[in-house]
Amino acid sequence: MNSKILVTGGNGQLGNELRRLCKNYPGLEFIFTDVDMLDITNPDAVSVFMEASKPAIVVNCAAFTDVDGAEDDVKNARKINALAPQVLAAACAMQNSFLIHISTDYVFDGNSSVPYNEEDSTNPISVYGSSKLEGEEKIKTVFDDYVIIRTSWMYSEFGHNFMRKMISLGKERDELKVVNDQFGSPTYARDLANCIIDIIIKSILNPQAYLPGIYHYANQGSCSWYEFAKEIFEIEGIKCKLIPISSAEYPTKAKRPPYSVLNTTRVREAFGIGIPNWRDSLKECLSTKR
Ligand SMILES: NC(=O)c1ccc[n+]([C@@H]2O[C@H](COP(=O)([O-])OP(=O)(O)OC[C@H]3O[C@@H](n4cnc5c(N)ncnc54)[C@H](OP(=O)(O)O)[C@@H]3O)[C@@H](O)[C@H]2O)c1
Repeated sequence: MNSKILVTGGNGQLGNELRRLCKNYPGLEFIFTDVDMLDITNPDAVSVFMEASKPAIVVNCAAFTDVDGAEDDVKNARKINALAPQVLAAACAMQNSFLIHISTDYVFDGNSSVPYNEEDSTNPISVYGSSKLEGEEKIKTVFDDYVIIRTSWMYSEFGHNFMRKMISLGKERDELKVVNDQFGSPTYARDLANCIIDIIIKSILNPQAYLPGIYHYANQGSCSWYEFAKEIFEIEGIKCKLIPISSAEYPTKAKRPPYSVLNTTRVREAFGIGIPNWRDSLKECLSTKR
């Protein structure tokens, strides 16, 4: 059986976690690429690469993830988050490959007060959210052999993320103001990487159990950014004083949903996976990085 897996955006947070985990799965053959090796916005390059490598599965971790930057660079955000997924889906359809694509909680407007289900109406309030939603929609127009995983507030020891930013600012400053009226679920990229490998093994490589569609994956429990920062400082022993503020007191280019907690029942039941609580995963991540 072909168990070749092409990972795009392999130098990002999620790509790096997949890279680390893949060593535990010698039966799966991973090919990691990033923009220098495979620019997913280039249809010819994608088609040539796919034709040459013939992967059974493509995991698209590549994205334009600068939420504020996307407001000023709509063209590139759309190119990477909306058009490239369509290019990948078309190449997958040509090669009979499956596509696992990662999307975001920011496809929702945040006006809910209960965790979002996969069927809930989307209504992005930022360029980033709109471009990611467009990417989902474009994949659906090409074929049905996809798993789209929406996740939220991702962090890891790699790259740019809230956890790393708080640690670095907390060590420099005596006090720090953090928004306390946006709620979501911090998600450890390694947990999501484990989920992706579970989906590959339990579903895609097992045609009898193949379960395409949209899934929500986030660590269990929820908090505000302020509460997230507080937990980071407690675990790390950082003495910087945290001051809770409102979103109105911290204007950003892009609007963020005030509530973007995801209901993860579907992914847990479909693939029989447990999802750790965000506090436990944060401790795990911070102990790994030492
Ligand atoms: N981070 C979060 O909080 C969060 C939350 C919800 C959903 N997500 C989604 O989760 C997925 C993974 O996010 P992440 O945090 O791991 O992202 P990330 O760390 O920003 O990594 C994205 C990677 O994609 C690469 N890339 C950009 N343009 C590309 C192109 N044209 N061709 C190939 N590669 C390209 C980037 O390279 P360069 O760095 O060189 O540009 C980077 O290595 C994304 O789909 C994101 O939208 C993330």
